[in-house]
Amino acid sequence: MYSNRRGFLRWLALGFGALMGLLPALARRRFDRALAQGAPASPKAAELQFVKVATVADLEKGPFKVENAFGDNTATLWLVKDPKKANSVLALDATCPHAGCEVEWRGKNFVCSCHGSAFAADGSRTRGPADADLTAYKVKVEKGEIFVART
Ligand code: FES
Repeated sequence: MYSNRRGFLRWLALGFGALMGLLPALARRRFDRALAQGAPASPKAAELQFVKVATVADLEKGPFKVENAFGDNTATLWLVKDPKKANSVLALDATCPHAGCEVEWRGKNFVCSCHGSAFAADGSRTRGPADADLTAYKVKVEKGEIFVART
């Protein structure tokens, strides 16, 4: 009886070890197959739904405000030329992260009139009470048209 139990446990350990050895190979095979089929590197990237919100020409005079960007009354955005990256556009949510008021462009930065929070042109917080940056959306520019997507 003791010998059978020991044998069973040994068999169980060997089987478990073999299974654990196979798992990385199976995972790698699945990943390679996905790459060969042209699957996106990230499932999230495939889920993004971009909508056209403006053209690059709309930004000639400075940041451009887009109301109802996604057509469901959930987002007002500010489109801004990225101050750190030429020919790149940022899409920032106009909602102040402090208590939800709307930020406005004041020539050099965004300011929230409710309690005075301020944000740089790239949406980074420069003055509280807000304790976070403005939310940024995914942006792509194609043939002079600007598309944004929620992340
Ligand atoms: Fe913007 Fe309070 S809601 S600073």
